[in-house]
Amino acid sequence: MFCTISLAKELDGKGLAKTYCAGCHGETGNSEQDKQGVVPKIAGFSAILLFDSLDQFKHKDRQSLPYRLKDKPETTMNKVAEKITEGESEAIAQYFSKQTFAVKKLEKLSQKESQGKQLHIDLCDDCHGKLGSSSEDDAPLLLGQKKKYLQRQFDALSEYKRYMPRRMKRKFRKLSTEDKQALIEFYTIKTD
Ligand code: HEC
Ligand code: HEC
Repeated sequence: MFCTISLAKELDGKGLAKTYCAGCHGETGNSEQDKQGVVPKIAGFSAILLFDSLDQFKHKDRQSLPYRLKDKPETTMNKVAEKITEGESEAIAQYFSKQTFAVKKLEKLSQKESQGKQLHIDLCDDCHGKLGSSSEDDAPLLLGQKKKYLQRQFDALSEYKRYMPRRMKRKFRKLSTEDKQALIEFYTIKTD
């Protein structure tokens, strides 16, 4: 699928991930150090999606918010992605795709969460499969994602500041503000 897949084989994805990503996303991509809820978990996302996301950040097709890691200077995903080569991105993408996205056990759903679940089944599950816990169709995992991060992405998507596939746009457009909040409540039931 990747045109330069042979490059990635030579590289140590785990080591590269540790050097470039672990400070914010953790060694397994579960972003556990981030207590603000703004650094998304990326473990278990498909390798194609991870590679594409890095590519979008690198070429500024997707703008990211700035983030400061403790005593380090503030930076963005755009700046991080600029520093790594295509081959390195592939190796890193493959490494994180093999990690497990950590989630809490499913709890009893509130009315709002159930409403979000139903909306997800009706409109979103054909791409964000298994209730948002499968990245098989190269869509991001949603169930168990960080809340503030998701809220910000919903805002960016609602304002068309972020790319989304046309088929998603057609469905996303139908959502009311209340629907979006219910979806976010549902997606974050399994979040630590
Ligand atoms: C300085 C902290 C920092 C570092 C280092 C960092 N990231 Fe990020 N990453 C973030 C933040 C913050 C966001 C959310 C950006 C936003 O809200 O726009 C993000 C977003 C992402 C996303 C989007 C996830 C989604 O759900 O769409 C991916 C993929 C990603 N990072 C991968 C990586 C990889 C791979 C590396 C290493 C090469 C890396 N990041 C290094 C902080 C960081
Ligand atoms: C046609 C398949 C498809 C459908 C249907 C779809 N999505 Fe998506 N969604 C995607 C893809 C692919 C992306 C990644 C876009 C990118 O490249 O940045 C995405 C991204 C997202 C993101 C950003 C997540 C992150 O980690 O940054 C959210 C939130 C989201 N979708 C919610 C929804 C909701 C809610 C619905 C139903 C109303 C929906 N999607 C329907 C394919 C789909």
